[in-house]
Amino acid sequence: MDRYEIVGGQRLEGEIRIQGAKNSVLPILAATVLVGGRCTIHNCPALSDTALTVQILRTLGCRASGEQGSIVVDTTNLSSQELSEALTGKMRSSIVFLGPLLARCGQVKIAYPGGCRLGPRPIDLHLQGLRQMGAIVQERQQDLLCCAPQKLQGTRITLSFPSVGATENLMMAAVFAKGKTTLCQVAREPEIVDLAAFLNRCGAKIRGAGSSVIEIEGVTRLQGCEHTVMGDRIAAATYLAAAAITGGQAAVRGVDPHDLLTMLTLLQKSGSRICREKDWIFLKSDGRIQAFPPVETAPYPGFPTDGLPIFLSLAATAQGNSRFVENIFENRYSSIPGLQKMGALIRREGRVALVEGSKQLHGAKVCAEDLRGGAGLVLAALAAQGFSQVEGIQWIERGYEHFSRNLAAMGAKIRRR
Ligand code: EPZ
Repeated sequence: MDRYEIVGGQRLEGEIRIQGAKNSVLPILAATVLVGGRCTIHNCPALSDTALTVQILRTLGCRASGEQGSIVVDTTNLSSQELSEALTGKMRSSIVFLGPLLARCGQVKIAYPGGCRLGPRPIDLHLQGLRQMGAIVQERQQDLLCCAPQKLQGTRITLSFPSVGATENLMMAAVFAKGKTTLCQVAREPEIVDLAAFLNRCGAKIRGAGSSVIEIEGVTRLQGCEHTVMGDRIAAATYLAAAAITGGQAAVRGVDPHDLLTMLTLLQKSGSRICREKDWIFLKSDGRIQAFPPVETAPYPGFPTDGLPIFLSLAATAQGNSRFVENIFENRYSSIPGLQKMGALIRREGRVALVEGSKQLHGAKVCAEDLRGGAGLVLAALAAQGFSQVEGIQWIERGYEHFSRNLAAMGAKIRRR
């Protein structure tokens, strides 16, 4: 099993050019299905999830050059509307092909997306919204059959939870619908804004992305365009936290500080000094992590669930106790056993985790169970005294481009084996 070998205790210092956002590039690549022409997507991160999304496009009969950097996608000759379990099982977010394929082709056959270690990952909100737009959705044992014999019909849809994926799917499904679609109580994440910006650049008529109400005026076609994917706010917070947990300093470039304000505020409250400009953030640690106020995850603009494992590791080394409440996924605490092996004192009670900080962590052999939990384990290993092995790094490399190379460039003693 591939792993990172880390000798902790090094102060990290350096500047990182932040990768394009994983959670933006995936829906944008899926949205090219709506264009029926050629798009160039810049700042695509070199991730296994990006490569898998490109593979899905090729399976559908589209042409896509490369799997990172600037990807040219031509969906003119899209020839299939079927996504097998072999593809959807590997990546939960493949479900965002449903909306664009249904809007373009009028029918889709898609295997259920893999659940993952975070929890069951249902798609009821996606399907409920599509049905309200007139889609006929047959939930079969192995897969979903969706069709829209007439074009989808614009309507008003209110989500019972601001699901990111459901917001993306319904926004894309509405692009060619008859009339206006109003989506209420939707997700406000920056990645939604980025997707809407891409679609509008192609000729869609979407207003309100980033707020709780998005309005989509149906159009008849889109034309290709060029788009640069936003910087990855979670990756940026991860590298800044790596500097903070090792008593170092770091600058991250290519990300909008407004996209990670709640995490920057927490880093400041834990004792780090932060300076920021339009697409640049600098952090300098004062060498100690102070315990920070209780952390409760919430839909954007609240504290992001993806950030929780990163701050859980920070809290394990903080002077004082910290409290976390995870309100989005059932199992966001996969890194706790590994942190405990490193000497962290953490007690989990359902959605709540109580951390008794100011522990000097020691190296250990640990295993990542999911993307962000794995990143949290790496941060803890960087702060721990001694040698650590982090296995299961395929999870981590789904979301972090050149992770070990970037950390090594900042002075970490880390090697990928
Ligand atoms: C997106 O997942 C992100 N993934 C996740 O990032 C992120 O953690 C999550 O949004 C929340 O911000 C991508 O964008 C590819 P949701 P998504 O639909 O869309 C429930 C990472 O590490 N729900 O907002 O799947 C669901 O069970 C990943 O980068 C329903 O009940 O998240 C969960 O409890 C992990 N029914 C909650 O909503 C539905 O139909 C949030 O899910 C859909 C969701």
